[in-house]
Amino acid sequence: MNQIAFITQNHGKVEELRAKAKPFGVNIKHCDAAYPELQVDTLEEVVRNALAFCRSRFPSPFIVEDSGLFVEELHGFPGPYSAYIYKTIGIEGVLKLARTGTAARFESVIGCCSHGAKLFKGSVEGVITQPRGHGGFGFDPIFEYENQTFGEMTVEEKNTLSHRSKSAASFLAWASTVL
Ligand code: IMP
Repeated sequence: MNQIAFITQNHGKVEELRAKAKPFGVNIKHCDAAYPELQVDTLEEVVRNALAFCRSRFPSPFIVEDSGLFVEELHGFPGPYSAYIYKTIGIEGVLKLARTGTAARFESVIGCCSHGAKLFKGSVEGVITQPRGHGGFGFDPIFEYENQTFGEMTVEEKNTLSHRSKSAASFLAWASTVL
């Protein structure tokens, strides 16, 4: 089985990627390490900087992933600042800023260091809602997709439609031929 390291401190992301990667014959090996996450305006920039930082410190091939919640009536905020916003004001804070029912989307960018650097993107549209469900991580309980929040879904259900499952699908299609 082909193997690739996933550098992240988020166990929820690893669980999702692992489940998604299995049918592609790709084994995701968790590398529980941190890298400086630039506070910049696009996920792509965050990922490119993470790849540049990790390239000299970790053996190839490896991947990093950056994601965020983009709320339409907040002009895309918190977007690339989602991790900081989650840590500081959390779900309750976002619900004070954004009305229930407002449109939002999750975006994910996977960066892969192998045969150079490659980026893979995915997104999913939904609405902000009052918290429901105890599954997943981060903003999952307040992100509703077709009457179900991500927090109410199993990993397998979330993996059929989420932003990360889409960036992962294009990464894995490429990886299973190249790695
Ligand atoms: P980062 O990708 O590590 O910068 O984290 C992005 C932040 O966005 C996380 O801390 C979560 O709060 C949020 N986020 C990203 N993807 C998801 C997801 O799939 N579910 C819920 N929250 C997410």
